[in-house]
Amino acid sequence: MKQLNELLGTRYPFIQGGMANIATGEFAAACSNAGALGLIASGGLHSAEELRNQIRICRSLTDQPFGVNLMLMNPAADEMAQVLTEEGVRVVTTGAGNPGKYMKDWKDHGMTVIPVSASVALAKRLIRSGADAIIAEGTESGGHVGEMTTMTLVPQMVDGLDGKVPVIAAGGIADGRQLAAAFVLGACGAQIGTCLLVSKECPIHDNYKEALLAAKDNATVVTGRSVDAPVRIIKNQMSRNYIKAERDGADRMELEKFTLGSLRKAVFDGNVKEGSLMAGQVCGQLHEIRPVADILRDLYENGKREAAALTIV
Ligand SMILES: Cc1cc2nc3c(=O)[nH]c(=O)nc-3n(C[C@H](O)[C@H](O)[C@H](O)COP(=O)(O)O)c2cc1C
Repeated sequence: MKQLNELLGTRYPFIQGGMANIATGEFAAACSNAGALGLIASGGLHSAEELRNQIRICRSLTDQPFGVNLMLMNPAADEMAQVLTEEGVRVVTTGAGNPGKYMKDWKDHGMTVIPVSASVALAKRLIRSGADAIIAEGTESGGHVGEMTTMTLVPQMVDGLDGKVPVIAAGGIADGRQLAAAFVLGACGAQIGTCLLVSKECPIHDNYKEALLAAKDNATVVTGRSVDAPVRIIKNQMSRNYIKAERDGADRMELEKFTLGSLRKAVFDGNVKEGSLMAGQVCGQLHEIRPVADILRDLYENGKREAAALTIV
């Protein structure tokens, strides 16, 4: 089975996770230049032309492989799916759903398709539709999450898929110990998000970065479980109000009042009280702002060292 860097042509076996409103063409290019697969996030973009523009920006800034994260729930998803082939994008990751209806076109264009899945059953369906690899994302992740942890999901995904396609671990990976663990669990690489939020190149507001650096181990909470829209964010005034409303039985419409535009509030305005500070549980282990290249190099080198030093007595 190929390791992720062989599959993607990257220096490291890492994917920079798509992050709505954050992973611009410029940020994806920075991650690709630093050795990961940079991904442009389509979540937060309003039209296929905006996506085309970000793809062109990315291509002008890197000659390394990069891809696009397509949010299937985006109202412009059909047009965006087509822009990917028109612009010659080589890799697409997809979240929330089954990209089956785009698969033939994408495969005809030689694209590598890597959906995110939080369950083995969905992953099996995705492979039958033609997926080349699966990102198994645990609930430790920032943003929209499933129920299972990376520790339990990855090995069950690896076993359940019977070696048919490579499995990439996501959620809870920010240092060499966690990377080595992901490989021990059977993954061929890692998708990382939260640890890149504190990179110099990440275009989020400084207040958001400071909240990440100040975060402790138990700083995050999942909102939206009651309405089947679970999202992991750093606890703040918004999350407290949201969870109180959830406990009081608020319905989806009422709860959406809290979250409407809330990621943008955090990312662009630095509003750390009312904004949605999406972050994974690893935020408690982030202590400084560093260049993406340093974050990736340390993750890789320390991961290899940890794996080589592994002993069970
Ligand atoms: C701020 C933020 C926004 C995210 N937005 C998206 C998104 O738009 N699409 C997606 O597929 N995943 C999204 N994710 C999940 C990441 O792509 C990635 O799988 C996850 O961050 C990995 O776990 P980690 O946060 O523990 O590193 C987001 C994560 C964060 C932290």
